[in-house]
Amino acid sequence: MKIITIIGARPQFIKAAVISRRISELNSKNSSHVIDEVIVHTGQHYDEEMSGLFFRELEIPEPKYNLEIGSGNHGYQTGKMLIALEEVLQKEEPDWVLVYGDTNSTLAGALAATKLHIPIVHVEAGLRSYNRRMPEEINRVLADQVSKLLFCPSQTAVDNLALEGIKKGVHITGDVMMEAVKFAEDKIPENPEILAQLGIKPKKYLLATVHRAENTDDIHRLKDILAAFGTIDSTIVFPVHPRTRKLLETTKYSSPENVILIDPLGYFEIITLEKNAQMILTDSGGIQKEAYWLKVPCITLREETEWVETVSNGWNVLTGADKDKIIGAVKSFKMPENHPPLYGDGSTSLYCIQKILEAKI
Ligand code: UD1
Ligand code: UDP
Repeated sequence: MKIITIIGARPQFIKAAVISRRISELNSKNSSHVIDEVIVHTGQHYDEEMSGLFFRELEIPEPKYNLEIGSGNHGYQTGKMLIALEEVLQKEEPDWVLVYGDTNSTLAGALAATKLHIPIVHVEAGLRSYNRRMPEEINRVLADQVSKLLFCPSQTAVDNLALEGIKKGVHITGDVMMEAVKFAEDKIPENPEILAQLGIKPKKYLLATVHRAENTDDIHRLKDILAAFGTIDSTIVFPVHPRTRKLLETTKYSSPENVILIDPLGYFEIITLEKNAQMILTDSGGIQKEAYWLKVPCITLREETEWVETVSNGWNVLTGADKDKIIGAVKSFKMPENHPPLYGDGSTSLYCIQKILEAKI
């Protein structure tokens, strides 16, 4: 069976690494290749610390194609991907196309495949924010519509799909990112250098990330977030996404003194910082879940989240970019007594591969 995996952005490298590793294990246990995986990198993310670093750290096989699409407005970027992907898919003639999450690379991959009648597997299907101003929401709704196998991290995701009339090919699989966290935790040394390098001590600092369009297209929201950070009586380590770096540079806005701005980190270092943080402040989808699995309180700098279970279980609080709400949430956070398992049991990747192998094309 031949699968083309289409990825392009940081979180997709992390998710794809888990499934690719399982495919390699499966192939090595059998005398002939069970699955021939061809990786296509759209080039949506291209900086070393947003792309190459993850391929090396997470031992992701070298992409057979790097389309080098790069940055641009949504239509331009997605359109260029679509043209290039169509050519690759026509040449490779895969049995399945595998896409992850909700980026422009996901949408382009799904559109290119469906027009060529190639069945699509969507990992992280059914997630909804119910905010159609989010580019990701459009990407996921459309990708789900054309997918044949829809792998959902939770019952909520299955229910969201049912509301849109999608019931066939839907499976609750859990989330592959849980396995990524376990993989990283096993590799993290007892005394990680990154803490000493930053001059911080376990559980004595906060960790922040901000990259969502709503928080980085408008300097006022980012300023409010940073102003809230400035009132917090702790060091805040803030690895800066290139999109956010660009906004800070063009507006010449300097951050408060307790905020340490650093370059984006590799996966093992960010998991180290998440695990040792007293609290996480983020608008990242992936980091909200990682915070939950690592039992670290999370403040989400958005008005809504797809990962609603982390909120209902008391481990995640939504504040948007509202300065007072952020300050209030940090001060008043109470550690919940319970931590029910969420998003699977760590065997998601195996289950997903089984479902692909069993599915009738
Ligand atoms: C994209 C995804 C978002 C995901 C995020 C993960 C879409 C619509 N958005 O957002 O869902 O959460 O990735 O990080 O697909 N840039 C660089 N170097 C890079 C990559 C980007 O400098 O390697 C800068 C460019 O100025 C670019 C901007 O970041 O214009 C935004 O990049 P883009 O890939 O369009 O969107 P993200 O904000 O990264
Ligand atoms: N991440 C990373 N280095 C960083 C920031 C984030 O490796 O400096 C990881 C993070 O741990 C998570 C994933 O990238 O696994 C999330 O990606 P991002 O926040 O860019 O996108 P989202 O999940 O919001 O789509």
